[in-house]
Amino acid sequence: EKGGYKHFMAKEIAEQPGVLADALNHYLASDDSGLALPAEVDFTGVDRVTLVACGTAFLACQVAKYWFEQIAGLPVDVDIASEFRYRDPVLSPKSWALFVSQSGETADTLAALRHVQGKVAKVVSVVNVPTSSIARESDLALPTLAGVEVGVASTKAFTCQLTLLALLALKAAADRGRLSPEALAARLAALRNLPGVMNHALQMGDDVARIAGQLAEAQDILFLGRGQMFPLALEGALKLKEISYIHAEGYASGELKHGPIALIDSHVPVIVMAPRDALFDKTVSNMQEVMARHGQVLLISDARGVHEAGDGIWASLTLPEVDPMLAPILYAIPAQLLAYHTAIAKGTDVDQPRNLAKSVTVE
Ligand code: M6R
Repeated sequence: EKGGYKHFMAKEIAEQPGVLADALNHYLASDDSGLALPAEVDFTGVDRVTLVACGTAFLACQVAKYWFEQIAGLPVDVDIASEFRYRDPVLSPKSWALFVSQSGETADTLAALRHVQGKVAKVVSVVNVPTSSIARESDLALPTLAGVEVGVASTKAFTCQLTLLALLALKAAADRGRLSPEALAARLAALRNLPGVMNHALQMGDDVARIAGQLAEAQDILFLGRGQMFPLALEGALKLKEISYIHAEGYASGELKHGPIALIDSHVPVIVMAPRDALFDKTVSNMQEVMARHGQVLLISDARGVHEAGDGIWASLTLPEVDPMLAPILYAIPAQLLAYHTAIAKGTDVDQPRNLAKSVTVE
């Protein structure tokens, strides 16, 4: 049932272009003229969106905050489900609450969902298991269509969550008059290309395996990103610590000099996730601060980024250039591959890492 792969995680990483294409077929009009979300997905009159989840699903929500705010101009709160109801969140009756979960059974996310019922205009869930408790108890459940995910480390569920959240942010932008039909069509065309681009990114497995052989020697690894790549840095670190047991942290690159830079020396690999976008130069200057302290930089960027900033780095991984909005979905692939190959190099149990369960049904 692993389809010729050594691990479910490897199979699920490789399945991403296919399941993403399926999700797009489901949620886009067949002639690509627009979105085909259920009619209830109408953001007219919605004043705020509250996104709640745990773990990797929470990090998908953190990426989505950038999209909803930058593209749709809609204010967003993002909460870790286990914290949400204990901070007595102030909820607007015109707001939507959106719960993201692969399993749909995560106890904290379900408790958070029950906490908002009757206090917001609509309770929406983005779930991979359509028969789950979270799906059943929400006003509207949108399936992520990633297919069954067995590996404890979430991979294809994450990129499908991101894709659906991107479509919701685009719908919000269109409903709020922030996106012309032409701009929407351009974004949808870029999304349609994404499975092909991901296939290309999956080819770099050998390069990643070589780099991972050295990462496996490290005690600590840092991930840096700015803007919507900051949550990806957090996801890279989460994935790596989860399956390789190497201590890893993600930081917003601009935050480095406020403390974490003290950790940098020649033994600390620093993985910089930086597409050549509007924030690139700022991230590169943070990267140079790392190199000045002898940190070993792995730059993950596109060909232009690696060409412009590659001097003096330890290693690089080059991805195709994509619509900046979609970069977090594409950059999930090297994050997953790095974690996978580092765990393989260390000989840990990739699909069943110690102390972890696929579905966390206790609070
Ligand atoms: O089933 P859920 O999406 O609600 O699970 C949430 C987290 O437990 C999950 O994403 C966890 O962080 C993963 N093991 C990360 O790879």
